[in-house]
Amino acid sequence: MSTLHGRRVLVSAGPTFEDIDPVRFIGNRSSGRMGFAIAEAAIARGAQVTLVAGPVHLSTPSGVQRIDVRSAAQMHEAVMSALPADVYIGTAAVADFTPQHVAGHKLKKVPGQDTLVLELVKTRDILADVAGAETRPRLVVGFAAETCDVETYARGKLAAKRIDMIAANRVGIAGCGFESDDNTLDVLWTDGQRRLGPDNKRAVAEGLLDLIEERMTNA
Ligand code: PMT
Repeated sequence: MSTLHGRRVLVSAGPTFEDIDPVRFIGNRSSGRMGFAIAEAAIARGAQVTLVAGPVHLSTPSGVQRIDVRSAAQMHEAVMSALPADVYIGTAAVADFTPQHVAGHKLKKVPGQDTLVLELVKTRDILADVAGAETRPRLVVGFAAETCDVETYARGKLAAKRIDMIAANRVGIAGCGFESDDNTLDVLWTDGQRRLGPDNKRAVAEGLLDLIEERMTNA
């Protein structure tokens, strides 16, 4: 039987949208496919899965409890409220910054104005807060989306956010990362690493859950 059978697995997926005014927002290219594939694979292993999803156009895998959110602040609230869990997998592409003020009306162009400055403030780090929570999951797994120096940046996040494992992927190139059906992950932990893929996201998700199960069994 799978080590995840009966365990509570909490997954975040998709982008966040940070509103500028009632019609505009700052978003990113995440489709949610990677996180939804992980949720589906975990359900198939008998886990109880809660999926906190940003704005995506995907149907909910059967058996998954889905909580829809829009912004980084809403995702933070939903994830922290969904604890305790045995495993947290932070697949979402959460905005690092959000507008300090959301305009109540559509921003208008002012004659003679050629530039617009938006003041952004840092969002709360969901992954780090889950790892530091009183009800810390037994295994906290992050993702890292990098365009270069993938392993170096991912190892930095592994240490800074005090998490157990990080799955790093290249973004900004065709065939992996955002929006693609396929992915390649370099999964890193303190004293090891493993490459998964290139393969479709469901197969890569299965490989990641295998590693999570190994860590849960050996830890
Ligand atoms: O959704 P798809 O189209 O399938 O694409 C999948 C993916 C590319 C989005 C996914 O594989 C991926 O890389 N997800 C992480 C994207 C990201 O935001 O990476 P990051 O390096 O900026 O963040 C590092 C980690 O911190 C992530 O686990 C992120 O969820 C988390 N984070 C970041 C900021 C914040 N305020 N809170 C967080 O929890």
